[in-house]
Amino acid sequence: MGQGKATAYAKLQDRLKEAPSVWLITGVAGFIGSNLLETLLKLDQKVVGLDNFSTGFQHNLDEVQTRVSETQWNNFRFIEGDTRNPDDCANACSGVDYVLHEAALGSVPRSVEDPALTNENNISGFLNMLIAARDAGVKRFVYAASSSTYGDHPGLPKVENQIGNPLSPYAVTKLVNELYAQVFARTYGFKTIGLRYFNIFGRRQDPDGAYAAVIPKWFAALIKGETLYINGDGSTSRDFCYIDNCVQANLLAAVAQKDAALDQVYNVAYGERTSLNELFGLIQERVARVYPSAKDMQPVYRDFRVGDVKHSLADISKSRELLGYDPAFSIETGLDQASSWYLDHLA
Ligand SMILES: NC(=O)c1ccc[n+]([C@@H]2O[C@H](COP(=O)([O-])OP(=O)(O)OC[C@H]3O[C@@H](n4cnc5c(N)ncnc54)[C@H](O)[C@@H]3O)[C@@H](O)[C@H]2O)c1
Repeated sequence: MGQGKATAYAKLQDRLKEAPSVWLITGVAGFIGSNLLETLLKLDQKVVGLDNFSTGFQHNLDEVQTRVSETQWNNFRFIEGDTRNPDDCANACSGVDYVLHEAALGSVPRSVEDPALTNENNISGFLNMLIAARDAGVKRFVYAASSSTYGDHPGLPKVENQIGNPLSPYAVTKLVNELYAQVFARTYGFKTIGLRYFNIFGRRQDPDGAYAAVIPKWFAALIKGETLYINGDGSTSRDFCYIDNCVQANLLAAVAQKDAALDQVYNVAYGERTSLNELFGLIQERVARVYPSAKDMQPVYRDFRVGDVKHSLADISKSRELLGYDPAFSIETGLDQASSWYLDHLA
């Protein structure tokens, strides 16, 4: 995990190993879900996974299997099902201590293309999961919120209690998740934690398709020598956050005990801003170590995308203070890790 000192996360991992719990990961066949699965199985936890394979893959689960022991893999039970079906949610939540709810349709452009489908998966699916988790009496429900909730708020860095208007149907769905979560605390005393992810990247993030995220897409383009596009002039910036930081935040949130930490949302990011032009240079440099011809590739600039925010940067002091979050990977060290995975898998 790249951590030398006994951080809250290191202590938590020891505690979990000593007394395993039962976890449910929705969206387990996706990028973030499969990484949560890998970490939890390596900590000898019992894991139930739910996925409908809409944007997730069996090959992500197969890869996790190769990275854990047979005994650890046998602690995993997979349910092929859909959060839009309340029975699947109830079935998945039965006997579970902690829920990590990742299942949703990601991507701003996908939501612009098909807002109704994003709404069904991200709002109805979320509400079904909240109800099922509440009824099953789970200890904690942690869910994937999004930095898109900051919308048109101009402030930088982004602080949790200052949000603007949503800029896309996707952002609406993630905001509604937070509203439902608050209302469940108020009306049923069911306290959850939302994690506003800021551009998470790393192993198993899908590089293919129209809605692929920028980092995997650019690794693929540079490795394969294909045209690479930058939307806008490249000054657009993001707080790119390596997957292991995101996994850490999820586990810390799940076991958070302090009352002040519950019924809250948190930024999950690294806390640094990188422009798309800088990002291109960082990825190009890493790919060129193995494919020298990547050095000569130039990006093609095209229009800004509808619904995109121009700049994004997180203030992570709330996550640090209330959860003990201490991101171990910077963008550079995270890209080193991601780079070796993409070079192995796409070459
Ligand atoms: N990756 C990021 O940078 C980022 C940023 C902000 C928020 N998020 C949120 O994090 C979560 C995970 O994202 P990801 O990047 O791993 O995406 P992903 O597409 O790789 O994973 C999502 C998984 O959920 C599954 N799924 C979707 N709808 C489902 C449904 N109705 N029932 C069951 N399974 C369903 C998909 O098949 C997929 O396996 C999502 O909620 C996403 O909105 C991600």
